[in-house]
Amino acid sequence: MTPSLPPTVAAHVPTGLLIGGGWRPASGGATFPVHDPGTTEVLFDVADATSDDAVAALTAADEAFAAYRSSAPSERSELLRAVYDAIRAHAEDIAALVTAEGGKPLAEARAEVAYAADYFRWFSGEAVRFDGLARRAPAGTHHQLVLRRPVGPALLITPWNFPIAMIARKVAPALAAGCTAIVKPARLAPLTTALVAEIIREELARRDLPGGVLNVVPSSSARGVSEPLLADPRLRKLSFTGSTEVGRTLLAGAAQNVLRTSMELGGNAPFLVFEDADLDAAVTGAIAAKMRNSGQTCVAANRFLVHAKVAGEFTERLTEAFATLVVGHGAEPGVTVGPLIEGAAVERVDELVAGAAGAGARVRIGGERPHRPGWFYAPTVLDRVTPDMPLVTEEIFGPVAAVLTFGSEQEAITMANATPFGLVAYAYTGDLSRALRLAEALDTGMLGVNRGMVSDATAPFGGVKSSGLGREGGAEGLDEYLDTVYVAV
Ligand code: SIN
Repeated sequence: MTPSLPPTVAAHVPTGLLIGGGWRPASGGATFPVHDPGTTEVLFDVADATSDDAVAALTAADEAFAAYRSSAPSERSELLRAVYDAIRAHAEDIAALVTAEGGKPLAEARAEVAYAADYFRWFSGEAVRFDGLARRAPAGTHHQLVLRRPVGPALLITPWNFPIAMIARKVAPALAAGCTAIVKPARLAPLTTALVAEIIREELARRDLPGGVLNVVPSSSARGVSEPLLADPRLRKLSFTGSTEVGRTLLAGAAQNVLRTSMELGGNAPFLVFEDADLDAAVTGAIAAKMRNSGQTCVAANRFLVHAKVAGEFTERLTEAFATLVVGHGAEPGVTVGPLIEGAAVERVDELVAGAAGAGARVRIGGERPHRPGWFYAPTVLDRVTPDMPLVTEEIFGPVAAVLTFGSEQEAITMANATPFGLVAYAYTGDLSRALRLAEALDTGMLGVNRGMVSDATAPFGGVKSSGLGREGGAEGLDEYLDTVYVAV
């Protein structure tokens, strides 16, 4: 056990499967290891769910749905508020676990826990605000009622980069709507999910609500869980956060039973800096948009597109700011950049940087692996980058800033939109009219204007094009778990 995880926290982390309100080992008895990416040491061995376990979880979710769907919205609201309170009460322990299994610095882990808790608080409110409609039909012959009801048992597949926020963003609206859930957490970081699931299990039990409302099946085989569930007509909803490649496969599987789907997939965010931008604010925003979780977020700025007039000055200041970042284990005081999630991620980022440098880009800082245990990559800035480089066309998912230049607003828009992805864009400008033009012209689901961070439990998060379908958070987040029923009376 690494000393980075306090023994008091380690003692409370469930390592089994949660099915029907009880923790149990995997039916095959197998486990898989979960590592601390800051040391590469094994933190825990976790039960490795089989396909049979996944189906047992769906059976539990389906049986629980019969009762839970008709629970009072106020009861569901109180459940979620209690989960919010419990997460806030245990925030330090949860943050320590987020850092241990995901690597991010403790300050970021604390921010993630607060962000995750906000989803429970927000959807606690939304649970009692379902909309509906009653009106006389325009023809005058009858009345029309439009009702909302829960979609049904939902499979929620979460990524490793936000081990608590992503489960919160899916579980809170599902439970608010009256759906039951089977969570398949990421193989690389399933521990925080288990800790939060235990909090929810306790709150369900306290209220005599069915334990099968929330089931958790960690597995080393994503397909081993998803394939039998997508083929089973009892499952009615799939929500996934992860790569576009995996999202496409899941969408094809979801087509079998024509499931409702929410897909938060890959990004390739442009970060636009115009000639009238406040450059100090742009550099601060660039660090926020690029370096959160060492660049391992779907909303990470992937391409810095800077007006040629200010590109030299911006790159200089960005390089200076990168030089002040402190790389290290996330639990060490003062660290601002943690490790990447696994060795393969370091290899990939290194290849992208070396490829760009070999093709003419200039490394201003970084471009190497620090000499220390753990899966680290140095904060890196490159300029003289060109649009055809894989560093630009692919999602970097690492602490690397690639700077390109543009000469006009139209050129900036064309460059920003030259990608199959469309999750988020960032724009720094002193001109509000320009900001509004960009909101119309950029092909993205979200836009940060003079802000390097858009994520907010109370606002709709999601993308267009190959970045996904549906929205999470905000009022829209609840809609994803509700069907609309029209009644002609
Ligand atoms: C993600 O990287 O998928 C989520 C980031 C966020 O919610 O801010």
